[in-house]
Formats: sequence, C-alpha cells, structure tokens
Amino acid sequence: MNFVLGCATGSTMRVLYEELCRMHREEGLSFKNVVTFNLDEYASLPRSSPHSYYQEMRKQLVDRVDMPVENFNILPSEFSFDKTSELCVEYEERIKAAGGIDYQLLGIGRTGHIGFNEPFSDEMSGTRLVHLSQATRIDAAPAFGGLSNVPTMALSMGVKTIMQARQITIMAWTEDKAEIVAKAIEGPINSAVTCSYLHRHENAKFILDMASASRLSRFMRPWVVPGFTDVMKDRDFWDKKAIIWLSLTANKPILRLTRENYEANGMLPLINIRGNGNHEHCNLWGFKSIEKCITGWPAGGRPEGRMAYFDSPSSTCGKNVLVMSPHPDDDSICMAGTIQKLVKQGHNVHCAEMTSGNYAVFNHDAHKFVDFVNELGLFQGDSTDSARVLKDIEEAMKNKEEANPLLKKVKGLIRRVEARQSLIQLGVLKSNVHHLDLPFYEVHSSQKGAITEKDITIIIDLIK
Ligand code: F6R
Repeated sequence: MNFVLGCATGSTMRVLYEELCRMHREEGLSFKNVVTFNLDEYASLPRSSPHSYYQEMRKQLVDRVDMPVENFNILPSEFSFDKTSELCVEYEERIKAAGGIDYQLLGIGRTGHIGFNEPFSDEMSGTRLVHLSQATRIDAAPAFGGLSNVPTMALSMGVKTIMQARQITIMAWTEDKAEIVAKAIEGPINSAVTCSYLHRHENAKFILDMASASRLSRFMRPWVVPGFTDVMKDRDFWDKKAIIWLSLTANKPILRLTRENYEANGMLPLINIRGNGNHEHCNLWGFKSIEKCITGWPAGGRPEGRMAYFDSPSSTCGKNVLVMSPHPDDDSICMAGTIQKLVKQGHNVHCAEMTSGNYAVFNHDAHKFVDFVNELGLFQGDSTDSARVLKDIEEAMKNKEEANPLLKKVKGLIRRVEARQSLIQLGVLKSNVHHLDLPFYEVHSSQKGAITEKDITIIIDLIK
C-alpha cells in the first residue's frame, strides 16, 4: 500500500529532506511505496529553472532516494492560462485517486500562508491559480537575484485540499517567523492568517525551533501561562522582563505603572515579591535593576571617582575589543553608538564581518557598480579588465545564473565596502576591519550547514 506524502518546498524543508536522504542512505529507509504531491509551483517559470519547485524537489529528495520518479507529482509551471481550471481539477482528482494525502508537510510564510494561500484565502478553496503577496515576493527576491525576477503568480493547493490531509505537520525555524507563528498559534482563527485555519484540523502539529517560538506567551510572558513558570529559573531576569513587558503593554514609563496595570495583566504576585505589596516599590526595583545595566564605559575603564551613570570624557584604557558581526551591517547598525564610544575611550576596536553577505545584493546593484568601474577604466584609458567583467556579469544576469561565482564575488565586494565605510565613519581603523567570509555562511542564510574546521581555524587565527 502506498503512503501519500504532501510536500512543501523552501528553506524550512531542506533540513528535513536532508535527514530523510540520510536515513535512506544510512538506515535503509525506503521510499519505494511513497507517492508525493507538492503543494505549489511558481507560474510562468521554465521547469528547468533552478528556482522551480520541480527542480528543488528533484535535487533535494526525489533523485536521492529510491522513490519511483512517476510517483512524484507537482503542478506545472508552464501552462496556458485558459487551461488552468482543468489542470487544477485534474490535480485534485489525482490526489483523490491516490487515496488522499496521509501526511502533509507545511512551512509557513511570513504572511501566514500555507502553500501559496495568501491572506484572505477562502477556507473552502481548492487547487487554483493564486497571486503571490508582495511580502512573499520580497522574501523570495534574494534567491531570484531581485524582486523583478520573482514570479507574481503560482498554482497552489487550496486550504480545503490541505485540510483534507489525514495528518499535518507544520514547521518553522528562525526568528523571522516568530511573529507570524505567535499569531497563528495564539491568535483567533481568521482569514488574514491562513495558517490559523489549522486549528480546525484534528491532527495538526507545529514543530518549532526556539527562535521561531520566541514570541509565544510561554516565552514572552511565562508568568501568565500555567505550567510554564519552570522556564523562569533566573528570577531576576524574568521579573525585569515582566516589568519591561508591562511598561510596553500599558504604554507607560515603568515608574508610572499602577496597581491596576499589574492587576489587569495577572501580575499582582510580582508586587509582593519585588515590592512587599507596594506597586511603587516594585516599579522602583524594576527601574533600578535596568538602570544598573546602563554604562558609559562598555569595555570598563571608568576612572576612579567618575559617575557611573553618565557619559564622561574618554579614558585611555586601551583594551583590544573584538566585535563579531554575523551580517556585514550588524555591527554598524546595531551597536554603532557603542563602537563609537569604545573608539573614543581609547580602545583598539576590531570588527569581524563573518559573512560576505553577497545574497542580500540584487543583480541590478551588482550591474550598477561594475558599470561604474568600467566607466572609470574608460576614463583612465584602460578598461580591458573591467569591460570583460561587465560583459560576464551581464551574461550571467541574462542567463539567470544566481550562483555565478563572479556575480557572487561582485555582490560580496559591494557589501564589504559598505560595511568597511560605515565602520570607518565610526572611527574604526581600516586595518581593523576583518572580512572573514566564513564558509559556514557562504550559502543562502536559510541553508546554513554545519560549522566546519575551516570556520573554526579562521576565528582562532583572528583571535590570535
Ligand atoms: C512552498 C510553500 C510555502 C513555504 C513557505 C515558507 O512550497 O508552500 O508555503 O512553505 O513560504 O517558506 P520558507 O521555508 O522558505 O521560509
């Protein structure tokens, strides 16, 4: 008897397919009796395109296990529009003829979509032609080398088709998904968050990593979730977090929080613990604890007798400070003020850019920069090299070769220069900016593999 598996594509699924392939290779897991139906496919994309879900499935699962290729079902990417409804009805019938979907795998888009059922999809919808939301297209843009290359439409199983599966597992990783995951799990069932329909399914479950689960109440405010106080081992941390949360929720400064604010949010016990029953003392405890975390001397070195709470003239304590930046702009965006202060206070600040970040640069920007370099070459009377680079880049763009090494190199260099220039503005010496291009990151962020020996050696050499 066949097992009918509903498959999703995208970055979330990659680890799962990788693990299934490993189990097939090493543990003899067989797919001989597995029939798969994919959720969706981009419209108007050649099937041979590396971006088509057809290619993605072949590469990640179908061609790596012993599943008969004729058991792999996916909606077409190239079709004539007047045949759309026939195609969709035929797909639904094929699913029925296979016995219906036993186990449906899902990812969740930041819009809350499942399959490509974007917000306001009908709960009774079947397989159909859909428009991709702008947010979904923006998320896909880096992989396509720019928004304009991302298809605007797709064929997708409908909400009803998905809900008919006997069992559903939906997965989400990374903080990018935290907000929508919280809405889908804790918010009301509503058409604006398609995924919330899954509440009505009898056998659906979420599998989350800590980052994508981080906005759930059990982590955001465990004090109101029965049974979850065991995550609150560090009382000081959670009590401070609770007071900050209350201040943000009530939209008031901490010192203005009233007894009613605590009461309305189930937080009266905190008043007893931190304020001996007095809410103002509790406010003060929260305020003082947070205030203590603020320092004008981020790397230490405050001269004797100086006020701790206010910025003061620089002291030269000359520590070596290493700022690790997972993205080329994490350091200058997230801690520009701190970096500036460290430099001003006489520390020797080094910044390590861990990834080249080439995936975040669109083709048209790469083209613009290479075109500029070529013009400069022409201006100087020697443009042989830059003209060749320009031609190769244009060729790669025309052929939609996103993985072209030269194109990636140019994109990485653009981010390298941007990062370096921002750090120089903050006072960091050019020679103290280190571009590590760690192999770990040199795939799309969502496909990160394991940390390699080479990654470790690069970091150790830098620290030395
Ligand atoms: C893809 C699909 C989509 C994705 C969702 C999450 O076949 O149906 O719903 O599951 O967009 O995509 P990733 O995993 O790339 O974040």
